[in-house]
Amino acid sequence: MLKVTLHLLFTSLAFGLNSPRFNQVATKFKEDILEFRDFMESLHLNKRCNETSLKECQFANFDECFAALPNPTCPSGPEFNIPSCGSGEGCPGYVDFTTSVYSIAPGTAESDPLVYETICWTRHMDEWLIQRNERDRAFWEELGVNPGAMYYGSTTGVFRYYPGRRTKNCGAYDPRPRPWSVAPSGPKNLLLVLDKSGSMEGNRMTLMKKAAIRVIETLTMSDRIAIVVFDETASVIAKEGMYLYPANNESKAILIDAITNLEAQGETNFYDAFEKAFDVLDNSHGEELTVNCNSALLFLTDGEMTHPIGTTPENVIDLVTSRLNATSTKIGKPVLFFSYSISEEEEEVHSLPKKLACPLDFGVWSRINREDQIVEALSSYHLLFSLGLGDDENADFVAWVEPYFFVTGNIFGSTISAVVYDRSTSPPTKIGVVGRDIAFEILTEALETDNITEAISELARYSVAVCPALNLPRCVIESYRAFFGGNEARCFPDECSADDFSSTVPKKCFDSSKYTGNLTANSDNKDRSYEEIVCCGSDDGVCLGGGNDDGDDKLTKAMIIGIAFGCVFVVIVALLMLYCCLKRSGYSNRRVVVVRDAVAVPVNPPPIAPSAPTWKSSP
Ligand SMILES: *[C@@H]1O[C@H](CO)[C@@H](O)[C@H](O)[C@H]1NC(C)=O
Ligand SMILES: *[C@@H]1O[C@H](CO)[C@@H](O)[C@H](O)[C@H]1NC(C)=O
Ligand SMILES: *[C@@H]1O[C@H](CO)[C@@H](O)[C@H](O)[C@H]1NC(C)=O
Ligand SMILES: *[C@@H]1O[C@H](CO)[C@@H](O)[C@H](O)[C@H]1NC(C)=O
Ligand SMILES: *[C@@H]1O[C@H](CO)[C@@H](O)[C@H](O)[C@H]1NC(C)=O
Repeated sequence: MLKVTLHLLFTSLAFGLNSPRFNQVATKFKEDILEFRDFMESLHLNKRCNETSLKECQFANFDECFAALPNPTCPSGPEFNIPSCGSGEGCPGYVDFTTSVYSIAPGTAESDPLVYETICWTRHMDEWLIQRNERDRAFWEELGVNPGAMYYGSTTGVFRYYPGRRTKNCGAYDPRPRPWSVAPSGPKNLLLVLDKSGSMEGNRMTLMKKAAIRVIETLTMSDRIAIVVFDETASVIAKEGMYLYPANNESKAILIDAITNLEAQGETNFYDAFEKAFDVLDNSHGEELTVNCNSALLFLTDGEMTHPIGTTPENVIDLVTSRLNATSTKIGKPVLFFSYSISEEEEEVHSLPKKLACPLDFGVWSRINREDQIVEALSSYHLLFSLGLGDDENADFVAWVEPYFFVTGNIFGSTISAVVYDRSTSPPTKIGVVGRDIAFEILTEALETDNITEAISELARYSVAVCPALNLPRCVIESYRAFFGGNEARCFPDECSADDFSSTVPKKCFDSSKYTGNLTANSDNKDRSYEEIVCCGSDDGVCLGGGNDDGDDKLTKAMIIGIAFGCVFVVIVALLMLYCCLKRSGYSNRRVVVVRDAVAVPVNPPPIAPSAPTWKSSP
């Protein structure tokens, strides 16, 4: 019992999560990502519309697929191992610490001026990141962890990732709907109101499920969510049937399971669905189960209202208008309303969902003409959320996402991220998100805790946003309506001019002829297999086994520093000190391994401490 108590004291006081060291590390991560964010904002401002820079960009980039990297190295250590190259020690993949690589999202084209521009201005981040990692080398070595990959994902779908490496699923990555890129749009309460009536059957239902699951997967620990599904009646998927769930891993699993098992059948009753949706929001607020911030209701349908008999569209509009007003008055924060209607032929289907949006201050409607647009459309809601976060109050807001598995080497990790804005517009416009990976096991070992859940919630303390005010002018909302839904989605077509739309509609810098260059440095790897391109070891991609031992001296040094660091706190209580040193020697065997994993030794030492190459896994 005494031992248990001491252990608790030990972990929570001396070396644990409240230790100065933990604070130091968490603060460092936060400062770094904000510094990176600021730098990207200045690049965007200074380099995007620079014609010389645009010209120099030709043949100066390395794409994720076919470009052979200029200075590939083979760092050793499990976190650099790539499953396709074999298992065990000594099966790393090539990493290039002198350059980033870029990818573009499916459905976007390099020839699109906005995409082309993004590839070109973001190119200048490499030099800066190399310098930063060099500057901080002592910090990372002392900690015994790697700085972690850093990257930028733009709203245009461009992803630029440092250090450079080849991806496995070439051309498949879209940075925009990922948790790390949605999380910094701030904490939110979310209600999905989904049509499961008979007409949804088939592909539509499949895509709606996919879209809903994608929305759920992008939420983080600071969000709340519940779902209402309806046919001629509505049912609620919520905590205890009536409250919002915190969007943690367990409740996400419950919600995803429920969505997966939905079957399309029955008629269409909007009225009941909205009543239940607002009930959930109201109940949760009473129980303080909402986050004290903005809420959104995402409504998706493909049919006309058929139920209950005698209910008119006006009844539904009145219901939504009054309950939304009542709920947001009660919560003291706005409730955003997004309605999506899916239909190719039946114009009538769009009529009510469109009418619902206009009487609301924050109502946005979009028509989904093709079924394959469902997924994309539904995940765009968070753009409006991040809009209000560009203010000065939230200038140092960062988000940590719940740990998940990176693709390479089955590394469990988290990402810290921050939104990048164009602050020359009013309000500032989101142009992308910066992120840095942290291999969690390594971090928590360095911090002397096994409890990842606790560590991440502790880190989350560093990412508390001031809830954005969202007192957006009428014409800014109107410009978002046009952005999401085209001109037909506007509610006040005579009121707001094109000037009011400047902050939502991105403009290219030059005329189109300037964007015809070839951006890729080479495509030397075009005809080679993934393993051939990626795996160190041998030319045919067979892992040879056996690591490089050169790093052991360095590792021992890091280990000693680690121990010395730990013992600084020993002075606090003599008893604890005794316990501590026993404890530490108990840990030290394990620690040798850990530190060795962390300090990778490249074949040709790179100019910086190597980062964990962790191409993002889905989701
Ligand atoms: C434009 O970019 C080039 C090359 O990157 C740089 O030398 C030049 O100073 C930039 N011009 C301005 C006005 O920033
Ligand atoms: C929850 O976390 C576990 C690992 O901790 C993981 O295996 C599982 O896939 C996660 N579930 C979801 C829905 O993210
Ligand atoms: C909401 O209701 C209050 C009274 O309950 C009213 O004063 C206010 O104007 C309403 N707001 C909107 C946007 O309708
Ligand atoms: C980790 O910490 C959380 C929150 O403090 C606690 O609920 C949980 O039981 C801990 N898990 C372990 C394995 O100690
Ligand atoms: C772009 O340049 C690369 C390398 O020189 C070449 O292999 C590729 O075919 C070029 N692409 C186009 C579209 O010209």
